[in-house]
Amino acid sequence: MSYINVKDKIVLITGASRGIGKRIAEGFRDEGAIVHGTGSKPESIEWMKDSGIIGHSADMRDPHAIGSVIQSIHDKSGKIDVLINNAGVASNTPAGGMKEEEIYKIVETNYIGLFRACQAYYKVQRKSGGNIINFASVLGLVGTPLSSVYSGTKGAVISLTKALAIEWVKNGFRLNAICPGLIETDMTTMITDRPSIKEQVQAGIPMKRMGRPDDLLGAGLFLASDASSYMTGQILVVDGGLTAQ
Ligand SMILES: NC(=O)c1ccc[n+]([C@@H]2O[C@H](COP(=O)([O-])OP(=O)(O)OC[C@H]3O[C@@H](n4cnc5c(N)ncnc54)[C@H](OP(=O)(O)O)[C@@H]3O)[C@@H](O)[C@H]2O)c1
Repeated sequence: MSYINVKDKIVLITGASRGIGKRIAEGFRDEGAIVHGTGSKPESIEWMKDSGIIGHSADMRDPHAIGSVIQSIHDKSGKIDVLINNAGVASNTPAGGMKEEEIYKIVETNYIGLFRACQAYYKVQRKSGGNIINFASVLGLVGTPLSSVYSGTKGAVISLTKALAIEWVKNGFRLNAICPGLIETDMTTMITDRPSIKEQVQAGIPMKRMGRPDDLLGAGLFLASDASSYMTGQILVVDGGLTAQ
């Protein structure tokens, strides 16, 4: 049996409808996990019907949606081994021009919604412990233009991960965060749709390429498995060397 083993683990991945979350959901399914995935609306999860991934619609901005999903999975399965908080939104608006609506959308999705998911998960698993993996970003570690509120939420996710890791360690919880670098998904089309910009961006990455959703799967499997059983409150950076420079 492989040391990094998630077979039969019940795993919930938010934002599994596209991009990194989709690849992680499919990768965990292929490794034998029982995978539940969310999208923000019913249309986003339609493709999951015959995929072996159990789809749920839950807008992270809704104060009750993700909690209801967590409660219903727990009611049916008796446990949720791993919660992967991946759902997120970004923005390229200059800080000075950001409107209230956009500010709240980013904060509510990336931080408040993620916290609510942690809280709901803690409530159902508090007697048996649990494992939470939060998606932060290298933009929570270093500064860059046009990412102000997004960066703030990702820095907050890193701090939250550490704080909850310490608060809930006595209940048998582990929490760690993954910080992806620049990954080719819908979130980065402002780079990938423009060949000259993409070339410039890739030149600045030590591995000379943007990441792919597949590049995050190993980190997810490692943190979800017993291979990382002595790790909590830590940040795993997967960025082709970008922040090592
Ligand atoms: N791509 C990168 O370069 C990069 C770098 C660092 C960190 N990250 C982080 O990695 C995670 C995944 O990013 P990605 O690149 O895969 O993004 P993506 O392709 O844009 O996919 C975003 C996912 O989040 C879901 N989502 C967005 N808003 C939501 C809401 N209000 N409620 C519920 N779900 C919502 C989307 O669901 P719908 O399909 O329903 O919209 C989708 O499944 C995010 O947390 C992101 O911040 C990405």
